[in-house]
Amino acid sequence: MVLPLPASAALVAVASTLLFSPSAVLAADVETVLAGQANLTIFRGLVKNHTNIFANLPKDVTVAAPDDNAFRKVGNWGAYNESRVEATLKYHILKQAIAMPSIVKGDSIWASTTLTDETFTNVTGGQQLILTKQPDGRVVFTSGFATRGTVLVEDLKFDNGLVQIIDSVMRVPETLESTARSAYTDLTSFVGALYATDLMSEFAGAKDLTIFAPRNAAFQQLAGALSAMDEPMLKRVLRYHIVPGNSSSSSSSSSSSSSSSSSSSNLTHYSWDLKNGSTLATAADGGRPLTITRFTNFVFVNSAEIIQPDILVANGLVHMVDNLLNPDRATARPDVASPTAQSPVFSLIGATATGTAVPTPFASYLPCTANCPTAQPTAGGAAGGAAGDGAGATSSNAGVAPARCTGLAGAGVGIGLAVGAVIAGW
Ligand SMILES: *[C@@H]1O[C@H](CO)[C@@H](O)[C@H](O)[C@H]1NC(C)=O
Ligand SMILES: *[C@@H]1O[C@H](CO)[C@@H](O)[C@H](O)[C@H]1NC(C)=O
Ligand SMILES: *[C@@H]1O[C@H](CO)[C@@H](O)[C@H](O)[C@H]1NC(C)=O
Ligand SMILES: *[C@@H]1O[C@H](CO)[C@@H](O)[C@H](O)[C@H]1NC(C)=O
Ligand SMILES: *[C@@H]1O[C@H](CO)[C@@H](O)[C@H](O)[C@H]1NC(C)=O
Ligand SMILES: *[C@@H]1O[C@H](CO)[C@@H](O)[C@H](O)[C@H]1NC(C)=O
Ligand SMILES: *[C@@H]1O[C@H](CO)[C@@H](O)[C@H](O)[C@H]1NC(C)=O
Repeated sequence: MVLPLPASAALVAVASTLLFSPSAVLAADVETVLAGQANLTIFRGLVKNHTNIFANLPKDVTVAAPDDNAFRKVGNWGAYNESRVEATLKYHILKQAIAMPSIVKGDSIWASTTLTDETFTNVTGGQQLILTKQPDGRVVFTSGFATRGTVLVEDLKFDNGLVQIIDSVMRVPETLESTARSAYTDLTSFVGALYATDLMSEFAGAKDLTIFAPRNAAFQQLAGALSAMDEPMLKRVLRYHIVPGNSSSSSSSSSSSSSSSSSSSNLTHYSWDLKNGSTLATAADGGRPLTITRFTNFVFVNSAEIIQPDILVANGLVHMVDNLLNPDRATARPDVASPTAQSPVFSLIGATATGTAVPTPFASYLPCTANCPTAQPTAGGAAGGAAGDGAGATSSNAGVAPARCTGLAGAGVGIGLAVGAVIAGW
């Protein structure tokens, strides 16, 4: 049964909390409400079995309840261990009661969940879910690995808030590496480059990162230019793509806002928080800034276009961009006359071919996983070319796509040489 909201609540501002009037229909505990719905057998069982999570829910939460078919779609739900099950359940509890009618068509809400365990997340205030109201009025939840779920039954009221029945199990966002391997394979060059320069270990425990990650084609086009850089320069260039969590944006930000609220984290800079003309302090040169430009529906960082915003990862979020960012060209701005075809901001050297037939620089630096071949006798480094330059976003749980693992995972090699060698070698 869908309980209608009072009309006055229908236009509550984005991310605000719905207040229940005391005269509202008598609510019930979450189990009772779930029991009244079809196809929720599995989730009801999980709620029953996890009184540690569900018995003492805080007031005014939203419980996203996947239906039985959603659990079947996961495929390996039965293989989730207890800590992963608990993390997943906590990720399905939003810290606000968000009524679906309160979301404006075309808008997104960035919602903090009760998942705060550092084994799974380093996002202050709880890992996030994105709620987007589509033009057709349906609300879609987006989680890690671009796993999305559509709300099937809206706004079931219970004692502590609202239940939303969804058609997919939300996936707890994983590390950047795991996300690049399994869901956004177009980021393997960037992640490989972080390994090649040891930046991956430097940022491993960092919180609330906002990462502007260039797609593989950008690295392919600059293969020659990158191989001409020494290790400190390459590191500096990569650092210019990372905005640490504490960095405040300037220019158009109002520092007076109630940032003390623990329910809404904006330490990361999600796409609708990227205001025209604002600047973000990066990890390069102690805060060398990036500048945001908006043009119609396009969002640019310096002159690079954000081609896939808001990819949730364990320690923040990633915006995929079409070009590398150059700390020595911080004043680069987009050519809005051709918004989807911005020029590189580095001088091109040597081969600049892109595409799936061209090897992806640095991808071989991704460490091996259980899925990698243990021996790769092929000469020439990155033969095989399995990790393509695919579009990335899948709307279901992607299987693990093993990256090529011909490179060394270890650190400490002469990095400048190794970097040159990997490029020369592919
Ligand atoms: C329950 O699931 C069945 C089979 O998937 C479907 O036919 C039916 O419409 C569902 N019922 C509700 C109320 O969602
Ligand atoms: C709940 O726990 C019981 C007993 O351990 C188990 O048999 C059942 O499968 C669990 N249900 C779910 C949905 O995990
Ligand atoms: C549970 O599964 C997660 C993710 O698959 C894994 O990282 C973790 O080590 C496992 N925990 C235990 C106690 O086995
Ligand atoms: C979170 O950070 C801590 C150290 O600060 C680290 O041990 C942990 O692995 C990180 N968790 C994730 C999911 O990255
Ligand atoms: C980050 O913010 C916290 C709390 O506001 C502060 O204690 C810490 O010093 C900051 N760290 C950096 C690197 O700015
Ligand atoms: C932080 O989030 C709140 C609530 O979503 C918003 O009102 C505020 O403007 C944000 N602050 C910044 C600096 O973006
Ligand atoms: C963004 O700022 C630029 C330069 O200040 C301006 O030309 C442009 O119209 C602004 N874009 C939007 C969408 O307001």
